[in-house]
Amino acid sequence: MFIKVINGPNLNMLGVREPGIYGHTGYKELVELIENHAREKGIRVECFQSNHEGDLVDEIQACYGLVDGIVINPGAYTHTSVAILDALKAVSIPAVEVHISDVDSREEFRKISYVRAACEKTISGHGINGYLEAMDFLSEAKE
Ligand code: DQA
Repeated sequence: MFIKVINGPNLNMLGVREPGIYGHTGYKELVELIENHAREKGIRVECFQSNHEGDLVDEIQACYGLVDGIVINPGAYTHTSVAILDALKAVSIPAVEVHISDVDSREEFRKISYVRAACEKTISGHGINGYLEAMDFLSEAKE
């Protein structure tokens, strides 16, 4: 089982950005948590983060034929990006959408997700644990 964890814009600022909403864990610590969890579960994992929409599209395309599952937090591009939706549809790799905060209980514009239509599941508002839950979902679905 090979999972790619893709994070979009501003998620490199975790721990610094709005800690009341996104918590105090930094991006580097998040990657360590994901890698430790993967090791325990016997999952191969790679993490990728970019602030650029096209780079996220390139990374999703690069997963084609190589990756068994995608965990994606597209950040603000969740609410705007048809390109990321289309990339996920193009590779048709099982994907889970993750949001650290509960997007449905925030501003109206955060309730719209373009990527959701290409994802098997959405995990929202479970903090950084949501990434681990998404990995478990994908690996259990593959068994
Ligand atoms: C987010 C929620 C988005 O609305 C926001 O733009 C982010 C992070 C989350 O993880 O809760 O950058 O995806």
